[in-house]
Amino acid sequence: MADDEPVGIGVLGAADIAWRRTLPALLRCPTARLVAVASRTPGKARAFAEHFGCEAETGYERLLERQDVRAVYIPLPNALHERWADAALRAGKHVLVEKSLTISTAAATGLARTARERGLVLMENFAFLHHPQHTRVRELVAAGAIGTPRVFSASFGIPRADPGLIRYSRELAGGALRETGCYPVRAAQLFLGEDVQVLGAHLRYEPDGGVDTAGSVLLADGAGVTAQCDFGLDHGYRNTYALWGSEGRIEVDWAFTPPPEARPLLRLYRAERREELVLPAADQFLDLVTAFAGACADPAAHEAHARAAVRQATMLEAVVALAGGSGDEEGRRAGARSARVPA
Ligand SMILES: NC(=O)c1ccc[n+]([C@@H]2O[C@H](COP(=O)([O-])OP(=O)(O)OC[C@H]3O[C@@H](n4cnc5c(N)ncnc54)[C@H](OP(=O)(O)O)[C@@H]3O)[C@@H](O)[C@H]2O)c1
Repeated sequence: MADDEPVGIGVLGAADIAWRRTLPALLRCPTARLVAVASRTPGKARAFAEHFGCEAETGYERLLERQDVRAVYIPLPNALHERWADAALRAGKHVLVEKSLTISTAAATGLARTARERGLVLMENFAFLHHPQHTRVRELVAAGAIGTPRVFSASFGIPRADPGLIRYSRELAGGALRETGCYPVRAAQLFLGEDVQVLGAHLRYEPDGGVDTAGSVLLADGAGVTAQCDFGLDHGYRNTYALWGSEGRIEVDWAFTPPPEARPLLRLYRAERREELVLPAADQFLDLVTAFAGACADPAAHEAHARAAVRQATMLEAVVALAGGSGDEEGRRAGARSARVPA
């Protein structure tokens, strides 16, 4: 297959996020081609295939056997990511996995090793990283718009919804940290850098072995710039961050999931001045798919994606540990064993 052909992509699971955001963007990406969607249920696979103009497969294994699929997108429940990402890599496919990649650092490290050994991409899907609004924020900070950065704070919370959703399933590794908290924690690394460490965390769990539905995390980088991340699944909708510096602050209104038609609003406060910047709309999912297709064709890009995914898994594991484990006695003991508070 020629390198300049669009990357043939298969999808494991007829998931809501694939239907709403990823596949519409994929269809508009000139460097990627949707080949097939696999579901455990033939009718669901057919519905996706008819809607998106691709083929349907029943069973994820069958999709991995296809020679015309060079890369797979995995929007399965978090607890199934490791198993199917591993199977896809071993079948020789590049992999884009929904956040949160895995439930442990060890699992993420294992996947990264497998990807490296086979010369394949392992990318965790944080589409917001591809939205140009964050580049604009970084440019403003670099130009001194807020002076020296002191604090990053971010919040992502959504209202309580149907209890049958995978985000409320402990067995499927749902919960506020992996559903919404992962975004502010990832964003803290974008702005504070790779040496950021988790200093403290609290997770509030549902009674009777339920998932975490609320949490807060404190992080800091080597220079003492701090990040405060708040998140939840039982909250009034909030999806925002701010950078506060020695001379002002920048606030981002719709930080993590702006729709493609939204024109982002940045608010810049400096001394007595308040300025609003309205940026052009951008489709972060289209930019994500384009970046993934580009990475498939660029071995030099592979390592950075896998390293970022492992670092994020390390962060989330540290959060669970510092919050006292995963909410039950066994989890608390495991948390205490694996807690790694930076010196
Ligand atoms: N990037 C984003 O903006 C974003 C937003 C929301 C969610 N996500 C992530 O995307 C992933 C999917 O979330 P979603 O909300 O789209 O979930 P969803 O609609 O429930 O889809 C998950 C899919 O996984 C498959 N599946 C396999 N085994 C399953 C099981 N035991 N129980 C339930 N489903 C099973 C199902 O596909 P078949 O029945 O067709 O096999 C199902 O459609 C999660 O990792 C989530 O964290 C990302």
